[in-house]
Amino acid sequence: MDAKVKLSPSVLNADFANLGKAIRDVEPYSDYIHLDVMDGHFVPNITFGPMVVETIKRITDVPIDCHLMIYNPPEWVEAFADAGADRISFHVRSCRDAESVIRAIKAFGASPGLAVSPEVPLFELKPFLGMIDFVVVMCVYPGFGGQKLMPEMLNRVGAIKRDATEMGVFVEVEVDGGVKADNLEQVLQAGTDTVVVGSSIFATLDVSAAAAEIRRVLDSTSATLRGCTSS
Ligand code: DX5
Ligand code: ZN
Repeated sequence: MDAKVKLSPSVLNADFANLGKAIRDVEPYSDYIHLDVMDGHFVPNITFGPMVVETIKRITDVPIDCHLMIYNPPEWVEAFADAGADRISFHVRSCRDAESVIRAIKAFGASPGLAVSPEVPLFELKPFLGMIDFVVVMCVYPGFGGQKLMPEMLNRVGAIKRDATEMGVFVEVEVDGGVKADNLEQVLQAGTDTVVVGSSIFATLDVSAAAAEIRRVLDSTSATLRGCTSS
């Protein structure tokens, strides 16, 4: 396992009337802020677009981890990169030419990632592994926060890492959906580099305390697992 496992809180279930406060509450514990962009077509929900990303970017120095769940990502990559997205992931099945989207994300100065939903086989991802910085392994069907993690998806983390190693490339793996304190150990054991945590942080009464607790469990579990693998 690599260095510190990163935390990317998803604001999907945050109090949008007090979004600035929600972000300030999680900042000390976060490596990214995860922004779920949904278009009501690729997934059955609508969230926000580049304007909101730009607004969030203005109030935080934490890098923005933008997860696009939209059709036609080529049309939107530039706007999200300009809005301040530091890394941008999109779904394998959301466009015809993933390679050109990856190239566009890089050209606009962001780090490219590909997301894979539970129903999408990993072979659809494989041709692009050498071109991207990270894979988002969805452990829920995308569209909504607060769902239950599908544990059978966690095998994908190791499978992707093995594919990448065989190809002589490196990709980070982010696990997204249903992650909470009581399944973090399982998620980290899979070899995950970054965890997205939404409702377990933002749908709580004390957002700051919830983020601190996730960070604590994350650091102590990854230290224990590192100890196990290095001995
Ligand atoms: C689902 C989103 C996830 C989700 C995470 O479509 O991509 O980022 O909001 O939220 P929880 O942790 O509540 O599953
Ligand atoms: Zn997400």
